[in-house]
Amino acid sequence: MFLRNSWYVIAWSREVTDKPVSRKVLDEPIVVFRTATGALGAIADRCPHRHLPLSMGRVSGEVLQCGYHGLRFDSSGRCVSVPSQEFIPPRACVKAYPVEEKYGWIWVWMGTAEAASPDLIPDYHQLTAPGYAAVGKTNHVQANYRLVTDNLLDLSHVGFVHTSTIGNAEMGEKGKLHVAKEGDGIFIRRTVADVPPPPTYIKTGVLPAGRNIDRWQIIEFLPPCFVKIHVGGAEAGTGALEGKYEHGLNSWVLNAQTPETADTTHYFWASVRNHAIDNPALDELFFSQVSEAFEEDRCILEAQQKAISERGGDSWDVTLQADAGVFQARRLLEKLIRAEQP
Ligand code: FES
Ligand SMILES: [Fe+2]
Repeated sequence: MFLRNSWYVIAWSREVTDKPVSRKVLDEPIVVFRTATGALGAIADRCPHRHLPLSMGRVSGEVLQCGYHGLRFDSSGRCVSVPSQEFIPPRACVKAYPVEEKYGWIWVWMGTAEAASPDLIPDYHQLTAPGYAAVGKTNHVQANYRLVTDNLLDLSHVGFVHTSTIGNAEMGEKGKLHVAKEGDGIFIRRTVADVPPPPTYIKTGVLPAGRNIDRWQIIEFLPPCFVKIHVGGAEAGTGALEGKYEHGLNSWVLNAQTPETADTTHYFWASVRNHAIDNPALDELFFSQVSEAFEEDRCILEAQQKAISERGGDSWDVTLQADAGVFQARRLLEKLIRAEQP
């Protein structure tokens, strides 16, 4: 079961140009399109006439025209003309979804339209604000979106899955974990003192060479599927453990795990930094390092989903202290989903 009354990321702004884009969200096929005046539409991706996906049609002025017999639909999902006749059948309409564009992402609201306030879009300002450089893409993952969330909330895996990029074992083994419910979300803070920097950090050249660092991972979960991670390191003993981060290496991994189906996820992610923002070599470094790390996660998540499907369902037979954040996040999400049920 999914949380319906929420915004979900359906596409990057840059993906939706003059061609319609088809994407399934919460098991519903949706076509997103940009009209000639730049307005966005998001409507069900199935023509009510003979069921051709409307995404196979084309945008013409302010409407999307079906690629089979040419019915034309506006952004409200209403058929506004039928080429072969004057009469427009009243049932020639499709569901329209509230749609917004913010932070370089296109968002659709999957619940009751009256509740769709743009103010409810979670804050991802680092994706587009001046002073930051962001690189990212979408991974299509053959796993339930909650497994992807779990993976991001419990970074004790970093020292085992990502040893070639962002990981070293110390973060999982020696890290101090603090989990708290704050506002609408869950915060998970992990710090570790006086450890060697991981390979990616060394490559940035921001940290003093050959010195140990204090590292932090501050993870914020917002239901149903948003995880913002602020990570970094600063020379050991220079205040990072007391919350002074500015002088160190700061970066953010910003994630939105949109459920496609019960077992598959459109995983939108970006790596963001606030140093050397006009340096294409660093864009490339962060993009390739995080891409590589997330391919390592994909390998784990898809194998995990396969094993869960084969045994007929998920359960927690063994739990660890490091699961604390995952549990709180899952409980919060389940509570919201239950509250939506009649
Ligand atoms: S199937 Fe779309 S117009 Fe006929
Ligand atoms: Fe990972």
